[in-house]
Amino acid sequence: MPVNHPSFGLLPEDRVIIFDTTLRDGEQSPGFSMNLSEKLRMAEALAELGADVLEAGFPIASPGDFESVFEIARRFAKDGPVICGLARAAPGDILRAAEAVRPAARPRIHTFISTSPLHMRVKLRMTPEEVLEQVTASVTLARNHAADVEWSAEDGSRSEDEFLCRCVEAAIKAGATTINIPDTVGYAVPEDLARIFTMLRERVPGAERVVFSTHNHNDLGMAVANAIAALRAGARQVECTINGIGERAGNASLEEVVMALRTRHDSIGLVHGINTPRILKTSRLLSAITGFDVQPNKAIVGRNAFAHESGIHQDGVLKDAKTYEIMTPESVGWSKSSLVMGKHSGRAAFRDKLRSLGYELGDNALNDAFRRFKELADRKKVVFDEDIVALVDDEMARANERIALLDLTVATGMHTKPTATVVLEVDGARREASASGDGAVDATFAALREAFPHNAMLKLYAVQAVTDGSDAQARVTVRLEEEGKLVDGQGADTDTIVASARAYVHAVNKLLAKRLRTAPPALAATA
Ligand code: KIV
Ligand code: ZN
Repeated sequence: MPVNHPSFGLLPEDRVIIFDTTLRDGEQSPGFSMNLSEKLRMAEALAELGADVLEAGFPIASPGDFESVFEIARRFAKDGPVICGLARAAPGDILRAAEAVRPAARPRIHTFISTSPLHMRVKLRMTPEEVLEQVTASVTLARNHAADVEWSAEDGSRSEDEFLCRCVEAAIKAGATTINIPDTVGYAVPEDLARIFTMLRERVPGAERVVFSTHNHNDLGMAVANAIAALRAGARQVECTINGIGERAGNASLEEVVMALRTRHDSIGLVHGINTPRILKTSRLLSAITGFDVQPNKAIVGRNAFAHESGIHQDGVLKDAKTYEIMTPESVGWSKSSLVMGKHSGRAAFRDKLRSLGYELGDNALNDAFRRFKELADRKKVVFDEDIVALVDDEMARANERIALLDLTVATGMHTKPTATVVLEVDGARREASASGDGAVDATFAALREAFPHNAMLKLYAVQAVTDGSDAQARVTVRLEEEGKLVDGQGADTDTIVASARAYVHAVNKLLAKRLRTAPPALAATA
């Protein structure tokens, strides 16, 4: 029987709701934190991708988290995906989440509590009866503030059947409209989830009125398989993240779940509303924002996902791609030829190319990106789509920053002490400084610290090539830590040292933004 859902109306029985938690479960894993403008960009990309629900954050966690959920909710005040805020089973959490999602056209409050014996005893120090009372109280309160309420049984897959059924029944009675059973620790095997969802749907009174949801962690590499097993057993919402990011080993990857549903519709028989040709672009945007590329063999979005190396495979693909390709590269956003324009290409062609890559820039941003494209085309023989994406993402990351890198000169060699001179513009004022170091990058970072003194510690320095070839652009990630707060900065350039300097400056800018948000009056820049 189709469920009549407050946010989606009458749901066709074969329609799977794609609940994206990149901005919450994904963002809370170390190194993946995003600032407000990055979260907004990601939220817009996820909406364009066609995600049905965006879990935008955990509003009680910090003022910054609240602000980003609130701003995302405001961005989707007229239409767009359901905007969801997470809350523990505590009135303060629930009221804060309600306030944060309120501006959205379709707000959702997602409240959770642990139901496994281990979590209840050790983590919550509560008896099962106390937990049950909390289920009713939290869902009732949430329902007073939103028509769309999701309740989750944290560590649900390790909970006792009888108790799980009682909790789910209580949540439904109190008004929950979605019931989520997470495999919080990635312990389940597909048969476990099939059994749990079948049991809940058969045994719990009122089960036919709600949407069941599955949320799987990848500790044993089974998150996607578990999600599909749950869907086969009647779940109709799947919680997932772009590139599978998330706590520890991550969550079920959105692109893998979605393409499994599409490619194996013959076997699974379920549909979704994802605009699959936008998958690669969304995956790359996340990588550009967080500075973490997916591994080359990552299904769907990895560099090698559609590359055929062996002669036998190449021969087969040339005869008929279906011999070794179960889906077309184009169906997930890979273009046949990623070769683009050269130094003679004009502004209009550049704007067209940006549109085809999914970027709509205002005039000023377009001018800046075009200037950098021309510089790049002068230096690099062949400019690929990937180069343009890296360049534009780099340019967008720099918008509204207080510190700008104006110039960098480095002298280095086998018998020379590396020295770097940097020129910065800080709040409109020019600053120049020089320093030496153990290598060109070290000297550059020392010069940047000299020009803009600060106490942040370098925690990670990573370099990746955007394309092949010795003239490839380098994409650098720099992670800084200040008073326990981590920020990642990114920079791209054909010169690795310049890319490193850009990444460092980007990270310092993020720290400044973070300082302002967390403690406005006391902390200005130390310089
Ligand atoms: O893994 C988990 O249990 C969660 C819940 C908060 C839904 O992320
Ligand atoms: Zn989770």
